[in-house]
Amino acid sequence: MSKVRIYTLAKDLGVENARMLEILDGLGVSYKSVSSTIEEDTVELIKQILAEEQAEGTSAEATAEPTVQAPAEQATPEQPAAAPVPQAKAAPVTDAQGDGGTSEVPHRAPVVTIMGHVDHGKTSLLDYIRKTKVAAKEAGGITQHVGAFEAKTSKGKIVFIDTPGHEAFTTIRARGANVADIAIIVIAADDSLMPQTREAIAHAQAAKVPMIVAINKVDLPQADPERVKTDLTQLNLVPEEYGGDLVVVPVSARTGEGVEDLLEYISLTAELEDLRADPRAAFGGVVIEGKVDKQAGVLATVMVQEGTLHVGDFLVVGENYGKIKAMTDSAGARIKEAGPSTPVQILGFSEVPSSGEKVQSAKNEHAAREVVAGRVDTRRDAENARVQRRLTLEEMMGP
Ligand code: GTP
Ligand code: MG
Repeated sequence: MSKVRIYTLAKDLGVENARMLEILDGLGVSYKSVSSTIEEDTVELIKQILAEEQAEGTSAEATAEPTVQAPAEQATPEQPAAAPVPQAKAAPVTDAQGDGGTSEVPHRAPVVTIMGHVDHGKTSLLDYIRKTKVAAKEAGGITQHVGAFEAKTSKGKIVFIDTPGHEAFTTIRARGANVADIAIIVIAADDSLMPQTREAIAHAQAAKVPMIVAINKVDLPQADPERVKTDLTQLNLVPEEYGGDLVVVPVSARTGEGVEDLLEYISLTAELEDLRADPRAAFGGVVIEGKVDKQAGVLATVMVQEGTLHVGDFLVVGENYGKIKAMTDSAGARIKEAGPSTPVQILGFSEVPSSGEKVQSAKNEHAAREVVAGRVDTRRDAENARVQRRLTLEEMMGP
């Protein structure tokens, strides 16, 4: 028998990757990531350890839980949404680590931001994953804003954020990286590293977000994935097959080649990050984008990061507040509540909130007003202090 990859073994033996790494650490076996390979005799040792654990009844893997949350209800006009399923119940609270401690909070789906140079195929890749055709409908085929989508994949729910590759949208890319748990850097195999590829990598590094590189368009005859890997190495990003720890997955948004592998790597990375959020905690979220719709009015896409949002809740963003009149999920279905790692579109703000702004909830309208009044006061005080300093400076300088 030859060497075996850690995650393959974990899957075969039905244990979590994190547990597998724990055992390897205990054995003093070194590895770079869950896709590293281990020797046959190590495999045998691991099997023994697990068998012993099982015999003692201390096995932790049985509690491995899916990260999938309850699907949002698909309410139709003639059939209004039934009583919503609270997300808190979706993931049973288990202690996967067996340490009896920190893991009381349920898992949440990973938020994955797709970044890269213009036209390298970010939206197309998402389209393949979502089996939709958004790219074809975009003006000039260029993404001009950031979209957030929930995708139900074979690996459970993953929240994707698409960002534009055009050089004009640096701030949007930076914000996209900031809300991400994982960044996918899309690089076209016929174009290799371009200015916005480097910029995207820098954003992911600055935000300290784990990165996965998807080399796209490998279906093209002129595709040269090896060149992409060499170019990455020159940036000190060394692909695993060259002995580094950068996960690089060749894909084609056109044929779908490699997309399953990419999803697998995303869920492996997410598992190692051990992403959790409490649906019962106080609500916390961030604005992904805000806009005015001619018919609906002000619409804001908000990512729920902590707690649960309900229709009727009061929200404060910057110096504005609003009451949620209606909420839709990323598929456009009306929902009444939304738990962690859910992008929702909210109707109810009177002013367009800026993307990247933090959102919090307030008990009632009075409380929301007080928070806003406090913020306005703080800002005015700071402004007055600045004016005062300038006046003093002018006095000192004389006429
Ligand atoms: P921006 O959002 O403007 O930065 O572009 P993008 O990265 O989202 O690229 P988009 O998905 O719009 O794709 C750009 C072009 O590349 C389109 O014409 C796609 O059809 C094409 N394309 C994307 N992926 C692939 C692929 O895997 N193979 C081939 N052959 N073409 C692809
Ligand atoms: Mg795009």
